[in-house]
Amino acid sequence: MTAVTSLTLTQPDDWHLHIRDGDVLRDVLPHTAKQFARAIIMPNLRPPVTTVALASAYRSRIEAQLQASSISDFTPLMTLYLTDNTPADEVRKARAAGIAGFKLYPAGATTNSDAGVTDLKYCYATLEVMQKEGVPLLMHGEVTHADIDVFDREAVFIDTILEPLRRDFPELKIVFEHITTRQAAHYVRDADTKNKNTLAATITPQHLLLNRNAIFAGGIRPHHYCLPVLKREEHRLALVEAATSGNPRFFLGTDSAPHAKGLKENGCGCAGCYTAFNALGLYAEVFEAANQLHRLEAFASFYGPDFYGMPRNTKTITLHKVPEKVPHELPLAETVVVPLRAGETIAWSLAE
Ligand code: DOR
Ligand code: ZN
Repeated sequence: MTAVTSLTLTQPDDWHLHIRDGDVLRDVLPHTAKQFARAIIMPNLRPPVTTVALASAYRSRIEAQLQASSISDFTPLMTLYLTDNTPADEVRKARAAGIAGFKLYPAGATTNSDAGVTDLKYCYATLEVMQKEGVPLLMHGEVTHADIDVFDREAVFIDTILEPLRRDFPELKIVFEHITTRQAAHYVRDADTKNKNTLAATITPQHLLLNRNAIFAGGIRPHHYCLPVLKREEHRLALVEAATSGNPRFFLGTDSAPHAKGLKENGCGCAGCYTAFNALGLYAEVFEAANQLHRLEAFASFYGPDFYGMPRNTKTITLHKVPEKVPHELPLAETVVVPLRAGETIAWSLAE
């Protein structure tokens, strides 16, 4: 069989993305918009995007930036940050305003999660309406207790939070975001959803490409630190299997999360990998290595919109097997961000 050197795909979407605000937004948005038609925009700003009014204002700032950057073919899909006090009525307003979902950050789990949910029992009335109205819950699936080992937090979340939640809300649409473990991949694969399309997971490029050794290779590597943290090789292999299996419950979500270089290379470094520069090239490497390049399109472009009940994109994009050099740094407001693979190459690049 001859090796594939060019790949034309229906244009993909990014179902989990951090683009921040202000001058950072200005600098990162073009990277995403070059590849993706739509993206689920994470609401963990400071202060968090907790209401429809805040999300509408944020959407307007993104749209203004798109216009200023002469980008006419990208649509931000807005989300709201769930809190202990989100009123059930906000769900109805959100649905009317075209909000794509509510994000559950367990309080303290990650960047700007202090206002997150301390106990899901406070959210039950709100979740009830989400289930009824078909509004998805997007979850950062980790428990946060200090006594739970950081590498076990996702697996414990499944048993103590997710499984009871699905029992209480069997028809709630849930996206288990940026899964990192075999337990999560198998839980999503095997979950009985009573033939309804109620459970899916996104997978990042870094969790498909790297295991936890990458955080400690020859010294501490802060640019490989994200949350949930990278796991053992056996987990990476389970994620690759899930992503490349053709199972529509798994789809693309980069979790690209820009932080200034100085805040990563720091005594208390921030969590997040900046993958937006050429995320699709990174995913193509994973699918090629697994001999499943023919399944990249569905993972990147079909299963996400199908789950969210949105139309698939109609334009196409083409990837070439031409290595792309990744810069050591990229501009980020008044500072710089270090992208994943900085100073190296990515095997696939986007055709102009
Ligand atoms: O690594 C991460 N970075 N994980 C998250 O959950 C949040 C994100 C961020 O906002 O920087
Ligand atoms: Zn994220």
